Amino acid sequence: MLEEKNGKVMQSSKIFPTPFFLAAAFIMIIFGASWGTMFLWQLRGVENFTSLNLFAINAHGQAQIYGWVGLMIMGIFSSFLPKYFGKDPIDSYWQYLMIGFMLLGVTMNLVSSIGLPSLFYANLGNGAIVISVLIFLANVTPLLFATKSPAHLFLYTAFFSFVLSALYSFWHHGKTFLAVGEKALLAQVATYQAPLRDLQVHGTALFAVFAFLLCIHRNAKSRRLNLSWVLLTCALVGEISLFLAYRVSQNHVIAAFLPLAWILLFVGTLLFVLELKPVGMFFRTALAWLILSELMLMILPLYGYFSHIPFSHAYYGAIRHAATVGFASLSLIGITVHLYYPMGVSQFSGWFFLLNIGCFFRVVLQILTDWHPIGFSYIAMSGMIEMVGVGLWCVEVFKGFALKARRVVS
Ligand code: HEM
Repeated sequence: MLEEKNGKVMQSSKIFPTPFFLAAAFIMIIFGASWGTMFLWQLRGVENFTSLNLFAINAHGQAQIYGWVGLMIMGIFSSFLPKYFGKDPIDSYWQYLMIGFMLLGVTMNLVSSIGLPSLFYANLGNGAIVISVLIFLANVTPLLFATKSPAHLFLYTAFFSFVLSALYSFWHHGKTFLAVGEKALLAQVATYQAPLRDLQVHGTALFAVFAFLLCIHRNAKSRRLNLSWVLLTCALVGEISLFLAYRVSQNHVIAAFLPLAWILLFVGTLLFVLELKPVGMFFRTALAWLILSELMLMILPLYGYFSHIPFSHAYYGAIRHAATVGFASLSLIGITVHLYYPMGVSQFSGWFFLLNIGCFFRVVLQILTDWHPIGFSYIAMSGMIEMVGVGLWCVEVFKGFALKARRVVS
């Protein structure tokens, strides 16, 4: 069992899954920060977010959601949960299979999107991602059934959303390859992509991070946390079903109810945060980004009204970046720091600052592009700052690995 002291899991440095981390960090640096920065650079000339290659953007998104966030979640939970519940660790054979299938999936998605555009490679890639997630689920579900904890509801929702999103993604990306003509492609993306992102970011990442926070606050048990789960789950189901119903029926009255789901999301998050009072700079900052992204979502209709842009790609992309980089990525990095703290990884390093500054500039400049083209001139800088931040973080944690290896040898 893990030892808990001042809300920190002190022995957890021993359980961090190195191969998962290495694969995820590689994907984040190359296909997340570097490739993402290249997209931003391309915008300087054309000054239009819709000019970017849709298949390439989706390949970047898939690589980040499954190859970075997904691998980190699988790595953290497949080694953390058994220890936490005092059960046998998941066989490393299964862990390598999860990583192998995920890497195959991400690679095939990249090949299908930029090298050899083909439905066959897209299905192979998304199929491999589904298999990887199913292997993870097959290993953690029996563990959840055999144990009890205040985090269980959050864990179930996170893992259910994870597998559902992988299956949905398989179907949706296949459809984008089958779409004949630009109109059909845009119709598929405009209707089915936002619910997929909801499942990935709010359904999987948010619930997984909240579950982890509940696990490390062992005494967290209260009605308000259960209420927060109810609100967040209703918000997730609401935002997905309302959006799909609106797009399929083209009935704008249904869309008018979407802010209700976003308000539930915001209230559920606030309830969770106020009740749990998470400790640590990383978690607090990451949660602040989440709350900001939810506030921005709530005022989306107002933004449309004042900007006279019915649907702003820039604004929606800024919300997503605050949620995926500001919240999800910082939380996952926070978990690694939390797990590595006893090994000497410093909490307040420059990379933490750079990641936040980069994310801040990205959100601000991306929104600015709706109002003034100067936003496009500097937005690539934000990606570069994030890239350096992620790189420095990796170096620091690698030092942690080296330190650990040296300790084991001596
Ligand atoms: C770290 C540096 C990153 C940079 C510079 C970057 C850059 C970009 C750019 C320029 C776009 C297209 C424009 C837009 O829609 O805003 C994009 C889209 C996207 N990014 Fe990133 N990104 C980064 C990290 C991440 C991470 C960590 C995730 C997920 C965890 C992520 C997920 C996505 C997704 C899902 C899309 C596609 C959105 C859609 O059209 O549905 N990105 N990114």
